[in-house]
Amino acid sequence: MAQPACEYKPGLEGIPVAQSSISYVDGKEGILKYRGINIEELATKSTFLETAFLLIWGRLPSKEELDSFQTDINNHRRIKYHIRDMMKCFPESGHPMDALQTSAAALGLFYSRRALDKEEYIRDAVVRIIAKIPTMVAAFSQMRQGNDSIKPSDDLNYSANFLYMLTEKEPEPLEARIFDVCLMLHAEHTMNASTFSAMVTASTLTDPYAVVASAVGTLAGPLHGGANEEVLTMLEEIGSVENVRPYIEDCIKNKKKIMGFGHRVYKVKDPRAKILQQLAERLFELTGHDEYYDIALEVEKVVTEQLGHKGIYANVDFYSGLVYRKLGIKPDLFTPMFAISRVAGWLAHWREQLAVNRIFRPTQVYVGEADAVYVPIEER
Ligand code: COA
Repeated sequence: MAQPACEYKPGLEGIPVAQSSISYVDGKEGILKYRGINIEELATKSTFLETAFLLIWGRLPSKEELDSFQTDINNHRRIKYHIRDMMKCFPESGHPMDALQTSAAALGLFYSRRALDKEEYIRDAVVRIIAKIPTMVAAFSQMRQGNDSIKPSDDLNYSANFLYMLTEKEPEPLEARIFDVCLMLHAEHTMNASTFSAMVTASTLTDPYAVVASAVGTLAGPLHGGANEEVLTMLEEIGSVENVRPYIEDCIKNKKKIMGFGHRVYKVKDPRAKILQQLAERLFELTGHDEYYDIALEVEKVVTEQLGHKGIYANVDFYSGLVYRKLGIKPDLFTPMFAISRVAGWLAHWREQLAVNRIFRPTQVYVGEADAVYVPIEER
């Protein structure tokens, strides 16, 4: 039986699936760049929407382009009442990622034309998706509490408006800025499971709403999004600074993974974790001290001391949960926050894929029987 010539690698580890100019990671030096620009620089100088433009169109926008992108997004933040009515039928106990995946797919019912060769269609789809995903996340959060969804506010920018729709409270400018930086930090990260899923779906030339819905479904799994929720659970379990050392030593002795540490690519502290830690500190100065931050600092100290020699350091998830919680975001919404942000990366890869498209059709190594006999049901 004919078999593929190349070696099978579980999880496609180390196998390039695309040529991309969107982002770059150096795991040894702790460098992350979007379109060649260091993440630290973007986190200081840019905004999420500008960064999304950069990722998707490959260059920084002019002032006019950015203004028009922001205005278009503001104008498309509302979701149709059909979609809101559909969301009201979702079970309150359902996971917000399942609600988001369903709602994102539902957008295709209204807007899909598959005019993928028209730049205007692509821009409209990008605007609609980036504008509506936060509204859908906030709407489900309100609806599952028995409330009506909150209409987007014309007076608030992208991030401030999202926090307002979620919490019914206008955030302080610093809170909105910190959330905006969180979105920038999670917007893109080379080839990962949800991005690959988006690209495979895109390669069939289906509509972008299906592309995003499949990526949301992929992100929902515990091996991809979600570790930051577990970091908070761990900090709560530890309970005090004194308990940190015995807790961590016990984890190491019993080969239990410490959440928020380690990364397939980064062998030093994740550059996003460094930025998130600074953001957490600024937020606590504004909103008051967080005792879990003291525990987190001690956890990082002990883990680095014990596991640093193996290249295990804090990753992006270690401090993000503390920031989100302080912003009034519930733990089961942490992965949807990731989706609101990562949609920029998915759409960038969607565009890149369309430009050079060839449908993904890998091969397999057949390990089943060569010749089997059909046994009639009454003889089995
Ligand atoms: N705590 C303790 N030990 C860890 C660890 C952690 N968080 N992450 C990795 N290790 C150890 C493993 O036990 C293994 O040790 P061994 O060689 O003695 O068996 C070694 O480091 C390699 O781990 P492995 O799971 O093979 O690395 P990976 O590259 O496949 O996994 C992660 C990367 C992110 C999945 C892994 O570090 C992890 O599960 N981290 C915790 C979850 C998390 O924070 N995820 C968010 C990632 S952004």
